[in-house]
Formats: sequence, structure tokens, C-alpha cells
Amino acid sequence: MDGGGWPKPRKIESAPRDESCRTPLLVFCAERGWQTARVFENKWVDSATMLEELSPTHWLPTPPGMQTRPTARNGMAHRQRARAGYEGFFLDALEHLRTEQRYRVFADLERVAGRFPAAIWHSPQGEREITVWCSNDYLGMGQHPDVVQAMVRTAVRMGTGAGGTRNISGNSHPVVELERELADLHDKEAALVFSSGYVSNQAGISTIAKLIPDCLILSDAENHNSMIEGVRQSGCDKAIFRHNDLAHLEELLARAGHRPKLIVFESVYSMDGDIAPIGAICDLARRHGAMTYLDEVHAVGMYGPRGGGIAERDGVMHRVDVIEGTLGKAFGTVGGYIAASHAVVDAVRSFAPGFIFTTAMPPAVAAAALVSVSHLKRSQWERQGQRRQVARVKAELTQAGFPILENATHIVPLMVRDAARCKTIADRLLERHGIYIQPINYPTVPRGTERLRITPSPLHTDEHIAALTRALIEVWGALEVSSGHLQAAE
Ligand SMILES: Cc1ncc(COP(=O)(O)O)c(C=O)c1O
Repeated sequence: MDGGGWPKPRKIESAPRDESCRTPLLVFCAERGWQTARVFENKWVDSATMLEELSPTHWLPTPPGMQTRPTARNGMAHRQRARAGYEGFFLDALEHLRTEQRYRVFADLERVAGRFPAAIWHSPQGEREITVWCSNDYLGMGQHPDVVQAMVRTAVRMGTGAGGTRNISGNSHPVVELERELADLHDKEAALVFSSGYVSNQAGISTIAKLIPDCLILSDAENHNSMIEGVRQSGCDKAIFRHNDLAHLEELLARAGHRPKLIVFESVYSMDGDIAPIGAICDLARRHGAMTYLDEVHAVGMYGPRGGGIAERDGVMHRVDVIEGTLGKAFGTVGGYIAASHAVVDAVRSFAPGFIFTTAMPPAVAAAALVSVSHLKRSQWERQGQRRQVARVKAELTQAGFPILENATHIVPLMVRDAARCKTIADRLLERHGIYIQPINYPTVPRGTERLRITPSPLHTDEHIAALTRALIEVWGALEVSSGHLQAAE
């Protein structure tokens, strides 16, 4: 400290980062300014964020007054204060979210099987029927009578849980059948089921990359958090290419030279609804000797003649080495999977902690997913119906002057570009019009791009669409009136 003033900030590289650094530091992140940070598992964290992600540039030692080392005399008081202080950490973190209008409130909903997209909202004033407009059960398969029956029938026959990890309890037969069906869906030699799509990415990417010596992972800048975690957990070198930017990807591939490379990317990006140039990425992968890993979470069931996703639709499924998908969105159940060669699947099965050390998927869930996948392989009704209603929603909202982000998929992002306003719109839609659309705010999307993400299904009728348009017109108008500066987002 310099004559009682602030010390000079030091370069972040010189900051202590082992567990012996028990008192907070101050670190500077361009996006946030100065933040208190602690060291946890050799990384800086505040109470809500891995600060490493914000790329801090400078640090300062703890200012006097923030250090609360116990002495022999005040040890007990310190421990009591510390206990109370622990609560304070969590309350502070939550307060920070509230200040930034990012505190999430989940509506208490009860879906009504057979009446999709209707649901009961357990509101503070009591039960009320509402219409859901943001479900990722994109095709309503979670309520398809055959899928529901398969789950119920299997639970009655085989019970509810799997009874342990697959290592301990073996493979339940419905899971074996499901994996066979998924391998066939993607025209691959094998498939492996995980407890969620998130886990399949985290375990799949990290294990595959770890098993490739000196692997460099090339990852799209807008990849989902589960993929980012997979990349991080692999411990491999990574290079981030600008979103869907082939020239940048090629530049990074060329720069990497002859070392082994894994390109990880998505087909449909869930927030903007844009699509990756899968074929062109496969061309680059072949030219530069890279392996490819594609997340089709927002495409399986909905694109391609059998619901194999965008890669199937584009006729390039055989060129992608690993396809990852979820059973929790268009297939209406829960779980995730990878489909690839025997060798890749067997290696992930044998080495991935996220597969080995967790209880297997319940047989009833696997049976329901199996029925859903095989139904959508044959039936075009759901895909065609969804396409029709998506086009109708986009046309009606555009005609009414709403700022829809254009794309060629089933996702309709209605841009609000302000967190508080996004929440106000969502609240009013629900309270006044019985329409449920969860606001999408930072960190799911960058600040300034907050939105309502509308996902029309084949079961949303033309009347539902007309009611949605009317409601949005009323809400938009009311907000413009109630606060002079609120204009229709653009
Ligand atoms: C691109 C992407 N991959 C993976 C996941 C995780 O899938 P799941 O919900 O099955 O865990 C999501 C979830 O929304 C996602 O958007």
C-alpha cells in the first residue's frame, strides 16, 4: 500500500492461485470491473461465477478490513461470524443476480397429458389454465399416447429405477434396444445412452479428446455450456473459431499443422436458431485430418426424413464421426446419447466417469424413448405440422411488426434486448393472457440480446397463434404507453 492510497494493480499472471490464498483478492475483468475473488480448486471464483471465464487482467491484494484472520482471543467470535458470513456469501450472490435483473423465477406448472400445449399454472392466486409457448418438447411427443403407455407399461413390468450403474446392474434390456435404435437412426455402428444430453457432451467430448494424444479441440464460439465443459474437462489445448465461420476454422486448422484435431460444433444453435454448414465443416475436417463431433440436440426428431437431424437432412450424416443428441426435447423423455463407430462408443463406455459412475437410465424411460424415436423415424405428421405452424407464427408476428430474428428453423426469437423489459413482458403475458414464455437473459444469451424464445409445435392451433399475436400486441402497446422510452425492440 502506498502512503495509504491504492496499490498499483499487478498483472494477473503474478496473482497467487493456490489454496493457501484464503483471503479474497480483487481481480479486474473488463466486463465487470473490480471483483472480489477467492481461490477454489486453483481457479478464481466469486460467489456466482468462474472468474476465469471473464478473463481477468489485473489483481490487487486484499484491502485492509477484508482480512478476518482469527486470533486466540477472538477465535470463537470469528467462527460465529464466519458461520453467519457463509449465508452472506449466498445472499450476496443472489442479490447480485437480482440487481442485474438475472434472478430466475420458475413458474409452478403442471402439464396436462393429452392437451398439449395446455398446462395448469399454480399461480399465487390459485390454479389457472395457460398455454405454453416455449417448450423444448418440440413435437409434443412427451404426451404421445404410445410413448406414455410404453413408460407406464415398462414401469409396471420392470419397476422404476435402474438399480445402479450399468457396471453394477448390467444393461437393462430397453436401454440395449434404445441404443440399437439410435445407432440405426444416425446410421452408425453403435450408440451409448447417458442420463442427459448435458452429460453426454461433457463426458463424450472430454473422454474422446483425452484419448487422442496431443489433441487440439476446435470449438465453435457459440457452443452450448455442456460442450464447453467437455472441452474444459478434457484438459486439451483448445482454439475457438468464430461462430459458423469457415474461413476462421480453416485458418486455425492450418495453423495447428499435423497434430490430431477434434472439431466440436452444433447443427441448430438453440438461441438464434441458425444452422451450421455441416458439409463444409466436414470438407475442412477431411482436408486437415480432423475428427468431427456434432451436437444435434435441437434437431433430432425434427429434421431429416427419419428425424436423424440436420446432418441427415443434408445427406452428410456418414461424414460426421460422432453425433450427439438428446432424448429430452423432440423425443419427449429424458437422457442423451452419442452415436459413432464401435471403437469410439466402446472407449467412451470404458473410460468416461460421467457414464461409469452414475445410475443408469430407468428402463421405463428407455422404453418410452425407444417408442418415440421409432415413431418419429416413420411419421412425418409431427414434422410437417411443426413446419406449418412455425411458418405461420413467423408470418403473423412479422406482419404485426414484431422484431423476429430471421432463421430457417423452428425457433422464433422475439428480440427484446433488455433484461428487465424481457421479464416484464413475460410476466404480463402470463398474468394477463395466460401465455407462458420464459424470458431468455444473460448468461444464456449475451447482454443486449435478451429475448423471448418461442417454439411453435404441431399441436399449437391457428387459434393459439392468433391469441399469441393479440396478446403480444397488447403487451407491447401497454409497455410503450407505461414508459415513454419503451419502443418496439429492434
Ligand atoms: C446445444 C445443447 N446441447 C446439449 C444440451 C443438453 O441437453 P439436455 O437438456 O438433454 O441435458 C442442451 C440443452 O438445452 C443444448 O441446448
